[in-house]
Amino acid sequence: MTEGSEPDHIAIIMDGNGRWARRRFSPRTEGHKAGVRATQAIIEACARRGVTALTLFAFSSENWRRPESEVRILMELFLRTLRDEIGRLHENGIRVRFIGDRAGLGRSLQTEIGRAEEKTAANGNLTVNIAANYGGRQDIAQAARRVAEEVAAGRMRPEEVDARTLGAYVSLSDLPEPDLFIRTGGERRISNYLLWHLAYTELWFTDRLWPDFDSAALEEAIADYQGRQRRFGRTTEQVEHQRHA
Ligand code: IPE
Ligand code: IPE
Ligand code: MG
Repeated sequence: MTEGSEPDHIAIIMDGNGRWARRRFSPRTEGHKAGVRATQAIIEACARRGVTALTLFAFSSENWRRPESEVRILMELFLRTLRDEIGRLHENGIRVRFIGDRAGLGRSLQTEIGRAEEKTAANGNLTVNIAANYGGRQDIAQAARRVAEEVAAGRMRPEEVDARTLGAYVSLSDLPEPDLFIRTGGERRISNYLLWHLAYTELWFTDRLWPDFDSAALEEAIADYQGRQRRFGRTTEQVEHQRHA
């Protein structure tokens, strides 16, 4: 809550793979592969640090607009990485979950996602949430639809619908909200990521491209976060008083 505390939940937009490849005169695919390596290192760093949850944006609902060949390569890379890495993640006590509209993903990827979630469900070291075919607006819309279904079935009254009850239907509702948001790649935007969840998250942006993001960069982001005072609407005096009480 106050300065100096550890972030429980870190949410990342892993951006800049394409530009990383371009700088090397390589195909974008090489950037995505390097991005996977960076992701592995950051998952390990978060596990070592005792972070509770790490939420990673892997593919947005808008990324379908990319060239078909890039989408296909990305999907193949997700499938291969999941198959290759799930054993090691499981051995390290890491829980893996997915958020987003998985019905829109390929059959074999859906199967692998189901397996990974099932295999690691009881792990308690770090929860890694992978946002695949995810959109923040779509997430809020699906929550609203489910609440509407409850109301229509007579299990909830319209006046019971508030931020708390709706929030229970938004993804990740069982986890603490992200404390720290990181976006690499230089853009200062949210790109339809966790719109609901980021209401009070501390935002940190870096020009560094995702394949170059390492544990030292993560430490830099966390140190910056730890220097901030989170007030959640209160005054500085209130927050300081609370801390010293
Ligand atoms: C992020 O890197 C990875 C995905 C969106 C899957 P980009 O592919 O967006 O990289 P840039 O932004 O083109 O450099
Ligand atoms: C956001 O990055 C999505 C992921 C990192 C998966 P984009 O590269 O797709 O974002 P925009 O299009 O630049 O906003
Ligand atoms: Mg990008």
